Amino acid sequence: MLDLKEIFSGKKMLVGLDIGSSSIKLAEVISSAKGHYLNRFCEVPLTKGTIIDGILADANTLSSKIKEIFKLAKCGRKGIVTSLAGNSVIIKKVTLERMNESELRDLIHDEAGKYLPFDNMDDVNYDFQILGENNYNPNQIDIVIVAAKKEIVNSYMDAATAAGQNIEIVDVAPFVLETLYGVNYEFDNEEIVVLINIGASTTGINVVKGGTSVFTRDFALAGNSITEAVQEKYKSATFEDAEKLKVEGLSQGSEGDILDLKNNILQFAQPICMEIERSIDYFRSTFGGEDIKQILLAGGSARIPNLAKHLSEMLNVKTEIIDPFLKINYNKRNIDAKNLENIKPVAATAIGLGLRKIGDK
Ligand SMILES: Nc1ncnc2c1ncn2[C@@H]1O[C@H](COP(=O)(O)OP(=O)(O)OP(=O)(O)O)[C@@H](O)[C@H]1O
Ligand SMILES: [Mg+2]
Repeated sequence: MLDLKEIFSGKKMLVGLDIGSSSIKLAEVISSAKGHYLNRFCEVPLTKGTIIDGILADANTLSSKIKEIFKLAKCGRKGIVTSLAGNSVIIKKVTLERMNESELRDLIHDEAGKYLPFDNMDDVNYDFQILGENNYNPNQIDIVIVAAKKEIVNSYMDAATAAGQNIEIVDVAPFVLETLYGVNYEFDNEEIVVLINIGASTTGINVVKGGTSVFTRDFALAGNSITEAVQEKYKSATFEDAEKLKVEGLSQGSEGDILDLKNNILQFAQPICMEIERSIDYFRSTFGGEDIKQILLAGGSARIPNLAKHLSEMLNVKTEIIDPFLKINYNKRNIDAKNLENIKPVAATAIGLGLRKIGDK
């Protein structure tokens, strides 16, 4: 597993904190020999502009929201695992001669600058993972290097510290759902599944084969674009009004009006669907048209009525909302069973993060 911050030895359960551009989500997962269960889950909205393209623009707001979410969730555990997304992190796949892990570590230490677009590697946190043998040359191995500017990693760590918390692991957003998928789903080594997170500002795509990432892509088109289209069509006074209309539907109006709104929302999601289609077409053409078994959707925008069905028909691949609770239990005292369906896509990333422990690298 990847980590952009040096980790300490020993195992310790952490709190998964998914810092999104529209809200932060906290997941406290308890793991034991009997398995995992989600003990607490909480979501707190974030003021627009706090995080822009993965960059922390307003540290004070984030700090106070972190404080608030721990309090609301009644979470006493210390130690956060979070992830970076968007422009704050670089993911680079490289192919190198086969060598052992310590040789590789030395080589990447000396030569990472060759593969990464940074002038001074002293300013950068990076890590790598061996993906496996290169498909075309058995003497070579494929590696994924992830990197982020220390300045950005530190800005999040400082915000957490100011909230009385400590970020212990920094993962990379596109890979987080892989952890969740690996725990909940049975798969064989050849099987290809596409994990798609459709949030507010970003859509992230991760194609996994046998549980390991083979292709990632993200683009800055997600739920916000739909809200903007709703705002225009329904002449909502503010973005927030349009957001409410989109998520809660019309509180009054005829059945026809209600259905119209639903259909319009799906229509406004079409540019996102087309961008997803382009990525899948690209993956198919570059990776020799391999068969995709299924698509699993996460993120708040996965809740758009009929979106999964629509993508399924458009791409001709079975598409469903990801289910974090296939193998993970949940605490019925803290989490309302009636709300479970609703939180599945939104909690997915936080639970994926919450599954990580210090020392499980
Ligand atoms: N029922 C719903 N119908 C349509 N859209 C919804 C619904 N519920 C939530 N959304 C949308 O999901 C988005 C929020 O999803 P999520 O919490 O995954 O985003 P985020 O993590 O804050 O953002 P990002 O990952 O892009 O930084 C918002 O655009 C919101 O309007
Ligand atoms: Mg998100």
